[in-house]
Amino acid sequence: MRIIEAKDYADLSRKAANVISAQVILEPHSVLGLATGSTPIGTYKQLIDWYNKGDIDFSKARSVNLDEYIGLDGTNDQSYRYFMDNNFFNGINIKKENTYVPNGMAEDLEAECARYDELISSLGGIDLQLLGIGHDGHIGFNEPGAAFEKTTHIVELEETTIKANARFFGSEEAVPKKAITMGIKSIMRAKRLLLIANGPDKRDIMEKALHGPVTPMVPASILQFHPNLTVVYCFE
Ligand code: GLP
Repeated sequence: MRIIEAKDYADLSRKAANVISAQVILEPHSVLGLATGSTPIGTYKQLIDWYNKGDIDFSKARSVNLDEYIGLDGTNDQSYRYFMDNNFFNGINIKKENTYVPNGMAEDLEAECARYDELISSLGGIDLQLLGIGHDGHIGFNEPGAAFEKTTHIVELEETTIKANARFFGSEEAVPKKAITMGIKSIMRAKRLLLIANGPDKRDIMEKALHGPVTPMVPASILQFHPNLTVVYCFE
């Protein structure tokens, strides 16, 4: 595990973007596992900036996102598809058809989970997975108690997660109660992991995740067992 302390959010974003940028420069066909949330926004901005300067070419890259709310389609401005298009994909030259987000509108959600797992395998697996962390230690939407051996599946969101995400929806009632998420097993299969955490409110959960016992009650704690984990944090 490599743990890197960033000076501030801008520094964290640059460092994370540097890791992703190196991945794409060294392996242009990389499969990038991507994440939503407020933390990666600065990383995506930095990557767009370097793309505009001509430093990175995403034309051969593919991407798979961790999760999506059930019941929101890509035109809904709270869907993760919309988030990815607007915070990242529209600003770079990745081909939209090579960007994948689970379909939260699928009629058969179980089939959608199986399709997503097959898709990841057919791409050859994830080369670098970017991760944020929830206050309860969730990664993707794998909430406390989630089995470590799950691949893509449907989850009921925890009350704390609904509360934390209400700021984006205007009210708690408007937050979907279910999501599709890659499972811990899908995440642990990625060749490299990059976990980013920002702000004083993430200090306690990061301490538990990185230095506490490995337990499904802190889903991110399993990351301690990944052979190639990089952590970039700033708790200021
Ligand atoms: C959501 C996402 C997670 C993300 C978490 C933390 O619940 N599903 O992938 O890591 O939020 O978000 P933030 O970065 O805004 O703290």
